[in-house]
Amino acid sequence: MSGLIPQDFIDDLIARADIVEVVGRRVQLKKAGREFKACCPFHDEKTPSFTVSPGKGFYHCFGCGAHGTAIGFLMEFDHMSFVEAIESLASSMGVEVPRTESDKPARRYDELFSLMDTVARHFQSCLKSSPAAVEYVKNRGIDGTTAKRFGIGYAPDGWSNVLDKFGKSTEATERLLATGLIIRKDNGKHYDRFRDRIMFPIRDARGRTIGFGGRTLGDGEPKYLNSPETVLFHKGRELYGLYEARQALRHIEQLVVVEGYMDAVALARHGIDFAVATLGTATTSEHLNRLFRLTENLCFCFDGDRAGKAAAWRALENALPQIREGRQIRFVFLPEDQDPDSYVNEFGADAFVKAVDGGVALSEFLIRELASQVDMETVDGRARLAELARPLVNKIPAGVYRELLIDSLAGAVGLTAPKLEKMIAGGKTPAAGNAAQASSPGTRRRAPSATGRPSVVRHAITVVLNHPEAGRNLDVEKLAGVSRPGTDLLQALIETVHAEPNITTAGLLERWRHDEQGRHLGKLAAAGMPLDDDFDPAAELAECLEQLALAGRRERVDFLIQKQRVDGLDEQEKAELRQLN
Ligand code: GTP
Ligand code: MN
Repeated sequence: MSGLIPQDFIDDLIARADIVEVVGRRVQLKKAGREFKACCPFHDEKTPSFTVSPGKGFYHCFGCGAHGTAIGFLMEFDHMSFVEAIESLASSMGVEVPRTESDKPARRYDELFSLMDTVARHFQSCLKSSPAAVEYVKNRGIDGTTAKRFGIGYAPDGWSNVLDKFGKSTEATERLLATGLIIRKDNGKHYDRFRDRIMFPIRDARGRTIGFGGRTLGDGEPKYLNSPETVLFHKGRELYGLYEARQALRHIEQLVVVEGYMDAVALARHGIDFAVATLGTATTSEHLNRLFRLTENLCFCFDGDRAGKAAAWRALENALPQIREGRQIRFVFLPEDQDPDSYVNEFGADAFVKAVDGGVALSEFLIRELASQVDMETVDGRARLAELARPLVNKIPAGVYRELLIDSLAGAVGLTAPKLEKMIAGGKTPAAGNAAQASSPGTRRRAPSATGRPSVVRHAITVVLNHPEAGRNLDVEKLAGVSRPGTDLLQALIETVHAEPNITTAGLLERWRHDEQGRHLGKLAAAGMPLDDDFDPAAELAECLEQLALAGRRERVDFLIQKQRVDGLDEQEKAELRQLN
């Protein structure tokens, strides 16, 4: 996979790539001082907050938070995979991506995509020749045009239809296995995953089939069977119907998020082209990121049952950190026993659109839901409401929306807004602690420290990322023995700069792309973009290291003193303590 392209090559490519050229070929850029600006291509805006820094090889939008390197930009803007982005960048620079014997990653991906497309077309033709399957689809109100548009097909009954037709060689069988179309048994034999099911191809942003959902025609279990997670398919990212919606609409005014394949298809059948479905998972922040890049106006329309309510609440929780001015999030609850599919079939498109337009705003849903959990008639109950709201409100970025929500909440609990605001900011109770844990580490509100500044380690990481050259002459030995979280990462970053003195911000980010911490680094790089001209990064970093070293020594002294009291020190430790003191 991706890791098999030599890191040296990626380092070199990123160092030589001109991000201004890469972005500028797709977006009209204007020079602004040392940087370039444009209206952000990832969200709708009228004044430019999208910034490209040639020095760092990095772009960042202050409006929607999108950020990344030239490789990241190609992945986001052209919807490329990591490997494709590297290939595209390399080819635009006239260099060839080195290949080792074993991988040939890009070819492998291409082969898997084309296999999926072939199999999808095969399922479509099987649908045509199965009267029972056609009957089922028709009975569900789907016409031929809609079925074709969504590429709906049928996997006939039998254990080896796909296997026999598409798995004629060992390599071909391996490919089927890699896409999840077949399953390997303990004895090494294989069989088809999808048997006697209506097949819904799941497509990526470019329309390539990356997975399938398969529904039984009758009451078989499970009702829906999805492709497993594969190199092509990540459930928590994908939205069923998004490609089709983008095809159908020139401008996406709003998107309605529904729960089921059939909901998205039925709505499209009735001319409502802007519905997408999560794939049997909760609405993740990745989903929300994608959706908000396409539109500012989202509506969640879940089933009228308890599970639908719960799903809506999960969506609300995940949406809170992404609330911004201008973004609208609404919730629609259909009558019990209805889902969007049954509703639109029974009452028609106009009624559904009306229901969507009448959805409740996120703030209203939040307050209503919390109020239903307490006794609003009593003072205790209202205090409890404020308590329940605190971790949720704390996930919302500061801004007008947060203020308005606090106002409404204050009204509901009978406090003045400033008083409630204070309670919510206070964060001394367990509820506030949970809030901090629940939000993602990158955006976590830190426990208010005395100075209100981010931790020294975090600050130092931000400085190295934004000014790698400042780390060239630093003595990392100073960090030995410092146990604060993040020190390892800081040390690794500085060591990378030592090994490669000319590495850029983008180069560092690419080094950490496949690392758990990589995501957070992107955010820190973005956070550090605005610069003062008199800021001396090398001095700043040296100062941070001094502070950390000092803190490390203090910790060590405390530890030794403690140990001295409890079980005594050996000679070496005694000497160390004398020296440290
Ligand atoms: P229909 O009965 O065909 O109308 O389906 P639905 O879309 O109304 O189904 P439901 O509301 O029960 O489920 C919503 C979504 O959850 C489906 O579209 C699937 O993505 C997923 N889902 C439902 N049942 C199963 C199941 O048994 N297994 C898995 N993996 N996913 C399921
Ligand atoms: Mn349904």
